Amino acid sequence: MKKIAPSILSSDFSKLGEEVSSLDKAGADFIHIDIMDGHFVPNLTIGPPIVRAIRHITDVPFDVHLMMDNPMDFVDEFIKAGADSITVHAEVLPHLHRAVMYIKEKGVNVGVALNPSTPIDVLDYVLDEIDMVLIMTVNPGFGGQDFIPSMLDKITLLKDMIISKDTDVHIQVDGGISLENIHTVSSAGADIFVAGSAIFSASDRRNMINKMREKASICEY
Ligand code: DX5
Ligand code: ZN
Repeated sequence: MKKIAPSILSSDFSKLGEEVSSLDKAGADFIHIDIMDGHFVPNLTIGPPIVRAIRHITDVPFDVHLMMDNPMDFVDEFIKAGADSITVHAEVLPHLHRAVMYIKEKGVNVGVALNPSTPIDVLDYVLDEIDMVLIMTVNPGFGGQDFIPSMLDKITLLKDMIISKDTDVHIQVDGGISLENIHTVSSAGADIFVAGSAIFSASDRRNMINKMREKASICEY
């Protein structure tokens, strides 16, 4: 079953609570929360207090994407604030296996994110331990960027790796996902789709989420 994870990065932050509630009513499978530190990516967003503040608004799982140089300093705080899954970037973690095991032991789902230029072989010895790989399909930092076409091959390679290792790791994609390209990206092997601008610019969010899920679901995988 293909899943849609709206990113609140594209929301109106002056009414964040209402925005989260509207995503809940629109049938979001996850709420994707982008945490940016101004170092790993050239942008700043929110921290644990804001995540905690919106936690009571919905039961939809919080999918927290840490775009930070020092994610492990904040993992406990984000879990306490209500994260259901934590995704960390391989690029900043020399001890990726240790980081993955730490998050896992906390009882939340764990994802490993790869920037567009990062090869998938960094996953070779952690794939069995994780719930999800996040393939960045734009260079992280901002919403509203164009999908990078060469990421389709990367998704296909990763899907092959997952099948050959006989694991059931999810492939999440993040950046530039739209109603126009979601079928192609899904056919390459992705199964969780983060979307910010496509959903927030829609006049009817429920309709957009349903249409995206439907288009993603008509595919081989
Ligand atoms: C980008 C973030 C994304 C972003 C996606 O750095 O990780 O989650 O919000 O936004 P769109 O769908 O507009 O590309
Ligand atoms: Zn993200």
